[in-house]
Amino acid sequence: MAVEATTLIIFGGTGDLARRKLLPALFQLGCKGRLPDNLRIVGFARQQRSDDGYRDLMGESVREFGSLAPHADEWTDFAKNLFYLPGDLDVPGDYANLQSRLKELEEGQEPANRLFYLSVAPRFFEAAIANLGSSGLAGEPGLGRIEHGWRRAVIEKPFGRDLDSARTLNDAVGRVFDESQVYRIDHYLGKETVQNLLVFRFSNTIFEPLWNRNYVDNIQITAAEEVSVEDRAGYYDNSGVVRDMVQNHLLQLLTMVAMEPPNAMDANSLRNHKIEVLRAIRRWEPADATQNTVLGQYKGYLEERGVASGSSTPTFAALRLYVDNWRWQGVPFYLRTGKSMAEKVTEIVIQFKRPPHMMFSVADADDLSPNSLALCLQPDEGVHLRFGVKIPDQGMIMDSKDMSFHYDSAFKDQDIPEAYERLLQDALEGDASLFIRSDHIEQAWRIVEHLLENQSGVSNPQPEQYDPGSWGPESSDRLLAENGHRWLGVCGLDQEAHA
Ligand code: BG6
Repeated sequence: MAVEATTLIIFGGTGDLARRKLLPALFQLGCKGRLPDNLRIVGFARQQRSDDGYRDLMGESVREFGSLAPHADEWTDFAKNLFYLPGDLDVPGDYANLQSRLKELEEGQEPANRLFYLSVAPRFFEAAIANLGSSGLAGEPGLGRIEHGWRRAVIEKPFGRDLDSARTLNDAVGRVFDESQVYRIDHYLGKETVQNLLVFRFSNTIFEPLWNRNYVDNIQITAAEEVSVEDRAGYYDNSGVVRDMVQNHLLQLLTMVAMEPPNAMDANSLRNHKIEVLRAIRRWEPADATQNTVLGQYKGYLEERGVASGSSTPTFAALRLYVDNWRWQGVPFYLRTGKSMAEKVTEIVIQFKRPPHMMFSVADADDLSPNSLALCLQPDEGVHLRFGVKIPDQGMIMDSKDMSFHYDSAFKDQDIPEAYERLLQDALEGDASLFIRSDHIEQAWRIVEHLLENQSGVSNPQPEQYDPGSWGPESSDRLLAENGHRWLGVCGLDQEAHA
């Protein structure tokens, strides 16, 4: 009887992402028994190495970056399915070598499925895709499951650097693969707590009726990082915060908070509803972009190694967006993200409206916050619901307190897996729900296009300096103050109270 086999080919197989994330995640999946039977992993990169040399390198990586030190037996078992082929993505002959190596490994096994993972710098994407097509490795265009097994491609971010380049790349991908074969990555979608947004919203009847402009005053999405650009300045200085975090991760979070309930969890229902949100985001004229955005650069950025002299690349962004539909008309969505900020925290705060009339006194007016629901995505994964309570033994004086849920105490024996575990497993199983469709990518670029430099006729706001270890430039507070709001956080606590 024929034996089905699957090969995962990692282009950039010795690179940082492969070593830090992909191999540790694959090893974890292997230990949990979640990889397909007969899975082989072939690393493809320029370095000269043997299969054994690759196994050694990946063994070190899993020990260094994995969450568990590999047990010797488990590692031996896993490593025997690791292979390596030196090759250059720009050289067509190297794809012919890959084809022969794969045929050799797949000998006697059918169907033989192949997942190509482009874990390489974006400048290689187009050539690699075109060569996969011309070498025959990608199979027949338009067929997800060809006679001899399926072919899929996972493409890492960033997907384009603006709308035009994303379109060009989508066209190049479309000439070789059918959309159903393409898995564009946003690793935020692989995060357990990001997926929980769907469960939280659509499995609890008590929140959904309030989830609209009648009860919600504003929504705040923060992805703050304590780290600076570190040794990634070469990449970062060319990208900036809008490309690095806003166009992808933050807009993904926004769509999941704002989307209508899909009727099923399949890839297209989910992705269609998310796209509807992006389409409804109010388009900016260049002048509106300036008024609704604050861009910042942390002090000391210009001294980082690899940053161009006098660079105006922003390392912080705060945005005010509106979703023009029935559910969200008039509700500001505030997004902020940056490097070298006070803390590493990713959270979404839904701030509800104030009571129409307040009968009670408060001990300290600053302590009175309207109800808020904070979904803390990382690092202290959980949920905080803030409400008013009577202070005991003090007449009818009230205060605001939090009711909290934490993953680590509620699920003591279950670790939160790395995002890449889920994404790799889904790509191997053919579930594209947590991957980005071509139309989503293009819509997301449209939303931020006025914030990118070199757009014709656009004068971008110059980044404002902020202190490392702060919550960004002062104008970010003013952006909210214009609407009578202020940043809430961290995870439901007031920032000042938290300091
Ligand atoms: C990446 C960005 O996509 O996301 C990085 O390129 C950023 O600059 C990272 O640090 C943040 O991811 P996480 O999972 O740590 O929030």
